[in-house]
Amino acid sequence: MKMFATLFVVFAIASSALGECPVPPTVPGADIGKIAGRWYEIAGPTRNFTCMTWDYTPREDGNFNSTTLSTLPDGSKDAEYMLAERADDQNLLNLYAMSHRTPYPITFYIADTDYDNYLAAYTCVVVPWRSDILSGLILSRTNTMDAEKYAELTDLLVNKIGVSSDVVGPITQKDCKYWPVPQ
Ligand SMILES: *[C@@H]1O[C@H](CO)[C@@H](O)[C@H](O)[C@H]1NC(C)=O
Ligand SMILES: *[C@@H]1O[C@H](CO)[C@@H](O)[C@H](O)[C@H]1NC(C)=O
Repeated sequence: MKMFATLFVVFAIASSALGECPVPPTVPGADIGKIAGRWYEIAGPTRNFTCMTWDYTPREDGNFNSTTLSTLPDGSKDAEYMLAERADDQNLLNLYAMSHRTPYPITFYIADTDYDNYLAAYTCVVVPWRSDILSGLILSRTNTMDAEKYAELTDLLVNKIGVSSDVVGPITQKDCKYWPVPQ
């Protein structure tokens, strides 16, 4: 009896964890190599950063260097360098801090993209005992996005995937002086 109770608890935890961070279906023929290049963050976790960009630079090993650059309120640059490793699925990348290899990556799940104009993604931390959505991201190849597309992608992330609206807010992309990707 005790064992069944324990199993039930384990199952309940496992299924609720799976529910927290859904895996998007892979689009047949999708090629994550097309993510390469610069993206502008139109929505994301709202911090005090503006003019945030994501650059995916292809590496010789087939993975990417992921560089996020933004401007702080005092005008200075904030930069984050990550290694984005490919997985078997074409709809996700595993992000590791470049400076030190963390035991568990942050998974960057692509929810929708055409790679030429827009990309909606969410990030999750998946450890053996639980998974959590960390943030939602709406990226664009230009530093703007029309209101209709923005509303559609926000609806996908918040209402269909379950990203909290607190972690996918608009990012200011006005009067920006963009930083180049360090080589
Ligand atoms: C953002 O800036 C405000 C005021 O400048 C500050 O109080 C707040 O702690 C900052 N938030 C973050 C997440 O840095
Ligand atoms: C990727 O980042 C590493 C560490 O900063 C750097 O040594 C390497 O040159 C970068 N590769 C590319 C293709 O930018």
